[in-house]
Amino acid sequence: MKKVTKICCIGAGYVGGPTMSVIASQCPEIKVTVVDINAERINQWNDSNLDNLPVYEPGLSEIVATTRGKNLFFSTEVDKAIDEAEIIFISVNTPTKTYGKGKGQAADLKFIELCARNIARVAKNDKIVVEKSTLPVRTASAIKSILDNTGNGVAFEILSNPEFLAEGTAIEDLLKADRVLIGGDETASGKEAKNTLSAIYEHWLPKERILQTNVWSSELSKLVANAFLAQRVSSINSISALCEKTDANVAEVSRAIGYDSRIGSKFLNSSVGFGGSCFQKDILNLVYIASSFGLQEVADYWEQVIIMNDYQKRRFAENIISTLYNTVSGKKIVFFGWAFKKDTNDTRESAAIYVADALLEERAEIVVYDPKVSEKQIYADLDYLNTRTPEENRRLLKVTKQPIEAIQDAHAIAILTEWDEFKNYDWSEIFKNMLKPAFVFDGRRLLDKESMTELGFNYYKIGES
Ligand code: UDX
Ligand code: ADP
Repeated sequence: MKKVTKICCIGAGYVGGPTMSVIASQCPEIKVTVVDINAERINQWNDSNLDNLPVYEPGLSEIVATTRGKNLFFSTEVDKAIDEAEIIFISVNTPTKTYGKGKGQAADLKFIELCARNIARVAKNDKIVVEKSTLPVRTASAIKSILDNTGNGVAFEILSNPEFLAEGTAIEDLLKADRVLIGGDETASGKEAKNTLSAIYEHWLPKERILQTNVWSSELSKLVANAFLAQRVSSINSISALCEKTDANVAEVSRAIGYDSRIGSKFLNSSVGFGGSCFQKDILNLVYIASSFGLQEVADYWEQVIIMNDYQKRRFAENIISTLYNTVSGKKIVFFGWAFKKDTNDTRESAAIYVADALLEERAEIVVYDPKVSEKQIYADLDYLNTRTPEENRRLLKVTKQPIEAIQDAHAIAILTEWDEFKNYDWSEIFKNMLKPAFVFDGRRLLDKESMTELGFNYYKIGES
């Protein structure tokens, strides 16, 4: 088995950054270089003030503090890093296609292909190339074909090693991974490459948690894992709508079914809808793959998970509008949270974006507070939808770092992210400062209904009548 001394990762995002930081911390004898074409992002990773890292994750800055400059490096010198490394991880973005065949469903693989061509051009000795990004099944074969046909005659082994970390708990998920999946060819050299990569993870994980499969099973498993998780959220969210009509309580239903060990208790929290960079994209991908193989029933089955999620976001916004006497025009609504979940500054596909969009269409005046998301990001998310002009978005929606001041004379508060700090606010003081009747729409089931009602709020909680 090859002795690994240098690895590199192309793409310094939410996956590449934390993953490589953990590998560097657990494998001090390996030089880990994370490269990106985005110089601003690399500068942020190299910022001496660790509060400025481009990714916020509990525990990440501590790891970067002890490894950066020792065996962890962030750089824009992509070619140099590729040339040096024995193992190259590809961790670039694979957004849903916005054009051409598969538009709105298939993953756009242009960044992956650019990486593969870059590796082929630069590599002067044998390399193991690892797909870390989530990719459609059979992408490894496409990468292999590019590398073999445009390379310098050196040997490449392509492995699929999907990342299962969840944002907000990335470091813990990496350090205590339930499993690591490594897919590769069943040939002797493929098996050797799998063992070489496995040896890296064996620095801190027991060998029995490292699963080796063929490359297609590994690629497909990542999509299926995310589809199953998202399906649970959509399933419980569909039931939340029913609970609101029937006086059942969705938390009690979750608890009751979760006690069945076959169902299990995790991932049954009803919410305003799932977000994040993976769930929707991966399901759309699954839908596209199934339909391109002529499996329309399979495609329709999984698409329903997304339809239900869109319904949940829309339902939440519509409930705010109808509860506020069917008009939100000119009314101040304060959003607590913008990130797609707590403990991250990531906003991709966050439910908050779509709820805001629906309310802004009704000319609500929104003020957003999120402890970790920047003003620039919030406006970028809204502008990207292209529903209104950037000027209108800035006129109707303001961003604040002072949540308590923001609620002065507000008609309503909508909780969009389950940040812990919201639980500790002085809600009686908040009540005093709001217009009456004061409404709270809790899209994360964060607060206690009885105490909120006692304080005088008109309190609406997803999944309760
Ligand atoms: C997910 C997968 O969990 C992870 O394994 C994969 O690698 C990437 O995609 P992530 O998107 O970071 O991770 O976060 P996750 O914790 O899965 O939450 C996704 C969304 O579902 C969030 O918006 C979250 O608020 C929502 N959610 C999750 C619920 O609404 N209810 C739940 O019970 C769980
Ligand atoms: P993820 O959540 O999967 O980590 P991100 O979008 O956060 O995705 O990060 C992907 C990163 O990959 C971005 O910082 C982007 O600049 C980088 N990237 C994309 N294409 C290339 C490329 N050809 N070479 C180097 N970096 C790239």
